[in-house]
Amino acid sequence: MILRATSWKKKAGMTTLTPDSNYLWWRDGVIYQIYPRSFMDSNGDGVGDLPGVTSRLDYIASLGVDAIWLSPINTSPMHDFGYDISDYEDIDPVFGTRADFETLTAEAHRRGLKIMMDLVINHTSIEHSWFKESRSSCDNPKADWYIWRDAPPGKKYPNNWACVYGESAWEWDETRKQFYYHMFFKEQPDLNWRNPDVRAALMNTARYWLDRGVDGFRLDVATAYFKDAQFRDNPPSLTLSPRAALPWFRQKHLYDIEQPELHDAYREFRRVLDSYPERGAVGEVLLTEDAEVVARYVGDDQLPMMLDLGLVNQPWLPRSFQRSVMEHEAAFAPDAWPCYCLSNHDWPRHVTRHGGGPFAEARVKVAAAMLLTLRGTPVLYMGEEIAMPSPHLARHDLKDPPSKLYWPFYNRDSARTPMQWTDSLNAGFTTGKPWLPVGPSHKKINVAAQTDDPDSALNFYLALIRLRKSSPALRRGTYRPLIERPVAAMTYLRETDSQTMLVALNFFGHDVDVPMPPGNWGLRLSTHRDRRAPGKALRRAPFEASIFELSDY
Ligand code: BGC
Ligand code: MG
Repeated sequence: MILRATSWKKKAGMTTLTPDSNYLWWRDGVIYQIYPRSFMDSNGDGVGDLPGVTSRLDYIASLGVDAIWLSPINTSPMHDFGYDISDYEDIDPVFGTRADFETLTAEAHRRGLKIMMDLVINHTSIEHSWFKESRSSCDNPKADWYIWRDAPPGKKYPNNWACVYGESAWEWDETRKQFYYHMFFKEQPDLNWRNPDVRAALMNTARYWLDRGVDGFRLDVATAYFKDAQFRDNPPSLTLSPRAALPWFRQKHLYDIEQPELHDAYREFRRVLDSYPERGAVGEVLLTEDAEVVARYVGDDQLPMMLDLGLVNQPWLPRSFQRSVMEHEAAFAPDAWPCYCLSNHDWPRHVTRHGGGPFAEARVKVAAAMLLTLRGTPVLYMGEEIAMPSPHLARHDLKDPPSKLYWPFYNRDSARTPMQWTDSLNAGFTTGKPWLPVGPSHKKINVAAQTDDPDSALNFYLALIRLRKSSPALRRGTYRPLIERPVAAMTYLRETDSQTMLVALNFFGHDVDVPMPPGNWGLRLSTHRDRRAPGKALRRAPFEASIFELSDY
């Protein structure tokens, strides 16, 4: 069934957000995620750092993005490469100094770029002074800052909760003679969010960086902050997914994530955020892609945005992507705001996930046209703009503990190889020995090779971002699919009361006919530069992504 475009006459009653009113960078812009360790190394130690990011700000600004999300840069023993923080108010020396961060922030702001930090406050590092005090006894001032339990008589552990990267989430502590809970590595003890002193300290951590000009945060595993007060066992989850190799995926996580107390904690965090001008935040949704779950935490008195893996976990099928988007659209209130990504530092890059090969770049352009024309804030992962793939890494090259443990079934390192700037040694990332091997694809796939190529992925991303920023409908309009169950092509409208854009994406290597609603459609952008505005049926060329605007005469 072909859904009809709303005619101009009926448009008047459309409930759409007024375009361009109160422009907000986190809602109207594009976010660019940087994994600092792999973006640019300035001091030849083979590890990316803050001066390295600063040296590439002109490039980042040239993309037309609005904000940089920096994966963690705080002091850390690096058991989880920075997602285990031992001092929230300092910068880890491998990335530089507080002064380097002040320079980066000032230089970013000078270019109109916002800075978002990765706030990892579900857990700390085992080396944080808070944990050292907490473990020292059962009655010190921080004894209740973490989750300490005894095992019931006859039981090996306090309950059956599994950790994400291993077996039990409970680790015995010889000093305190109790178990402590860790959702991730045992080096990452979870904070006790039920303790008001913990929440007060964490709100002060946010204020510490907001006071220093940070524009917002990505909240690491934001839906995990609270666990069931009664510590009830999770029921089993009968899944046939290969992920079932990990105990974490063999449980239904009823009692260790998504607890109702999150809402008040988010309201408290939002009050802190809104006490500063124009701040934003996006919470990471752990594990689920259930749009109902995602939507319940987003709103004016919750978090500004939540980022789940809805698009990351889809196969290369338009109906899968469209179903995920429609679920989000149905779950989100009109004034609540989705957020989407295709890749991040935890999963193989989508170029590789979707099959690589001779059509890799063609698919990347189609995927980019989708990500950058949906209703919701797009988050780009560094390197996706040049269609950078995840290289095959030998086991001895791996650095990430769970990637070593579950090789070759689970591999995060392949998403973390150095950014590919040039075709020279180490892709221009470092003059030293890179901490992870540079992908061999850098010989052909790199920023320098694409900058002056009008048909490159990089220049298509730039054109898409430019079009999105110039189009009220692409930024704030409603989303309306034209084909209910798409087979080969996703075709949808983005509409406000003053602009209608049509996006037509052919996911495969053969021609496909897609319906065109009546009206005068002017071509605004296409992967195929020789396209003219269509007639009734719109024959899409293989892997063609085209965006049209309805003109009202
Ligand atoms: C991060 C992972 C990290 C985990 C524990 C996730 O959200 O993206 O890289 O291992 O949180 O902090
Ligand atoms: Mg360095």
